[in-house]
Amino acid sequence: MADRPARPVLLTGASGALGRVLARTLAAAGWSLQLTDILPFPDPVPAGASFTQADLADGVAILRLAEGCRTILHFGGVSVERPFTEVFAPNFLGLYHIYEAARREKARVVFASSNHTIGFYERDVRLDHDCQFRPDGYYGVSKAYGELMGRMYWDKHGVENVNLRIGGSRPKVDDARTLSIYLSYADLVRLVTRATLAPHVGTLVIWGASNNSRGFWGKDGRDVIGWAPEDSADPFIPEQAGNVSNSPVEERYQGGRYCTIGYSRAEPSPREIFPPR
Ligand SMILES: NC(=O)c1ccc[n+]([C@@H]2O[C@H](COP(=O)([O-])OP(=O)(O)OC[C@H]3O[C@@H](n4cnc5c(N)ncnc54)[C@H](O)[C@@H]3O)[C@@H](O)[C@H]2O)c1
Repeated sequence: MADRPARPVLLTGASGALGRVLARTLAAAGWSLQLTDILPFPDPVPAGASFTQADLADGVAILRLAEGCRTILHFGGVSVERPFTEVFAPNFLGLYHIYEAARREKARVVFASSNHTIGFYERDVRLDHDCQFRPDGYYGVSKAYGELMGRMYWDKHGVENVNLRIGGSRPKVDDARTLSIYLSYADLVRLVTRATLAPHVGTLVIWGASNNSRGFWGKDGRDVIGWAPEDSADPFIPEQAGNVSNSPVEERYQGGRYCTIGYSRAEPSPREIFPPR
């Protein structure tokens, strides 16, 4: 299998934390990248890449940017819990623009989904990729909608997509919950690479987590793309296992602190409304 795509790749969210990692490493691997973000690109634009500032809410701009691309790495948008009106344009309207561009270009979408699509499962429940969504806020709802949009564009238009339910991808393991959800930057880059280069994917969900012994998640579509994580949060267990909050809601659920934002139930939600299969 080739080690780089034959056609250019569009990367949204290029100026963000993960976008910058992907731009740097994929360009260094010889990929031809079309980078975009609503904010300026903060680094020197790597060789083999070009950068265009654009808003995901601008459908015409997104169609233009996707011209000639066979893969869209969709990492742009609101990446934290915010009021619905702030999430709407980047994550709902923007996602629709991404899929329309993918349909027109016959491109594959690799979507940065999130563990916040399933944040209201208790931490002792082991989830497979076909579990019901239990989003923990408007941000999580926007990611669940993004995955459903992928399902529909595959069934209706044959647009392939890989939905990466990313846990916590950051430079360090900085609390106890991250011991369960950590995705190293190196594992992320390998995951995105395999999701792009695998010959056929259909529509897949893959848990974006390294090989963490305290992980919450089980089966997914990784075998289809030939990816397995190589890193682990485990070396940080002694340092971070006791690093918990004093919020019972935060510590009960997989989504952690996001579950507490605007939380107004007197009692915890029922344990298994949607039992995982
Ligand atoms: N970092 C993680 O641990 C993690 C976990 C789960 C999911 N994700 C997802 O991965 C992606 C990247 O995450 P990140 O940590 O780099 O987030 P980030 O906030 O650093 O990057 C997101 C980028 O999207 C851009 N953006 C926001 N609104 C936009 C708009 N209207 N038009 C164009 N660009 C816009 C921002 O300017 C930013 O550069 C996000 O979609 C996020 O939801 C990340």
